[in-house]
Amino acid sequence: MNTELDTLSVVVVGASGDLAKRKIFPALFALYCQGFLPAELTITGFARSEMSHEEFRARITEYLTCRYTPGEKDCAEKMEAFLDRCHYVSGQYGSTDAFLDLFMHLQQYEPHSRTNRLFYLAIPPSIFLDVARAIGSAGFVYCGETAPWSRVVIEKPFGHDRDSSDELVHELSLVFSDNQTFRIDHYLGKEVIQNLLVLRFANRIFEPLWNREHIRSVQISWAEQLGVEGRGGYFDQYGIIRDVVQNHLLQILSLVAMEPPDHLASGAIRKEKVRVLKCMETVELDDLVLGQYTASEDGDPPHPGYADDETVPDDSLVCTYAAARLHIDNPRWQGVPFLLRAGKALDRKTTEIRILFRDLDNCVFCGPEGCPHPNELVIRVQPDESISFRITNKVPGLEMDLEARDLDLQYDTAFSELIPDAYEDLLLDVIQGEKSLFIGSQELAAAWDVFTPVLHAIDENRVRPLPYPFGSTGPAEAMDLAVKAGTVWRQ
Ligand code: BG6
Repeated sequence: MNTELDTLSVVVVGASGDLAKRKIFPALFALYCQGFLPAELTITGFARSEMSHEEFRARITEYLTCRYTPGEKDCAEKMEAFLDRCHYVSGQYGSTDAFLDLFMHLQQYEPHSRTNRLFYLAIPPSIFLDVARAIGSAGFVYCGETAPWSRVVIEKPFGHDRDSSDELVHELSLVFSDNQTFRIDHYLGKEVIQNLLVLRFANRIFEPLWNREHIRSVQISWAEQLGVEGRGGYFDQYGIIRDVVQNHLLQILSLVAMEPPDHLASGAIRKEKVRVLKCMETVELDDLVLGQYTASEDGDPPHPGYADDETVPDDSLVCTYAAARLHIDNPRWQGVPFLLRAGKALDRKTTEIRILFRDLDNCVFCGPEGCPHPNELVIRVQPDESISFRITNKVPGLEMDLEARDLDLQYDTAFSELIPDAYEDLLLDVIQGEKSLFIGSQELAAAWDVFTPVLHAIDENRVRPLPYPFGSTGPAEAMDLAVKAGTVWRQ
């Protein structure tokens, strides 16, 4: 274990919210069960609601699982020991007095005065700065980078556009230095996403083919079956481009398209991601198809449309679906369309990457029935993690019949290991000070530059999204976008 890590105090601000309950506390428990957290550990929940320590423990217990400690007795013991380290303090966000009060409490719980402190801001982005300033004013932040350290974790969306994001970065840096700040995009913690660089750079066969000569198009699709279901207060301020495309999908795209890093240190990986993001052409309105879901056409009871949700204004023009065509202006990718699409209330839940290879030139197997099927690499991030590669194969038998078949790596059958939740990996990295899975400030700025002009154009022109029914595949017009890019969406 990291020698700097003999003490740890985790403060989760926003401890009564969904993110904290469903993701952060379960991830901390998973790390605790696997022995990744030091014995001298304190976890403190902070939020506005009044609650006793016992009520708080009861609330978080609901979401803790025994996946890493299967025996009932062992798990119960681990849970008890973990919960003993959990405390709760209530107070107003952004109030220095409330954080001074928290400070007094921490002095009782923390093992000694030089404990490493991790602040997880599981709160809406609109109050990040107030809370960070209150933490700073209450004297919580150690200045140096070495133990005892202070680190802060925030989650996207970071701002609304390039300017607001720059301002947030600057203002936050007045309290926590860039090295102390960990900006989470939780997709970077997902198992298959972490495998992308391994797949590309640890296998001889891919890198020589990974370019415009051999790849015809790249598609990244993200779909959810749920609508906003009462989360409209948050979603209606952001929309699908700011919520998913500009961050989760652009991060995936940069890992698919970046050049090999010189080494594996976070600085080298980030440098390449920034380089490729800077080569992305700014998205124009013409490169987009925008949609908003309407009530389902059938279903019992029928699902309401986006604007019917009581947390959404009736006249909202916010998009719940977006398909985008992007180009990367560099020697590797010149002319290759990158198609991204993301939608809520669709017919399936999936996140996948499809790399479609070009047809073969002068193939001896091209006959009257056509040519062999193009190769396609399909990387399924979720659900049912898998990597499959479509090849052309001879059908066994006396005839020379060819058909497309998949070489298929299904994670659930191929691996006996548990797939960690993204937050387990990310929290462990924060604790160990490892930054490659977090968004650097230059990367953030470059990612906003790709979408900021078009986001402003959508808002200024009050662009009306195309309707699509809940549970459908999204607006049919997304098909035309792919056709204009010389390809079709692959399922
Ligand atoms: C979040 C978005 O970042 O990711 C949500 O704000 C979305 O709108 C969620 O539902 C999806 O995460 P996952 O891990 O369930 O795919």
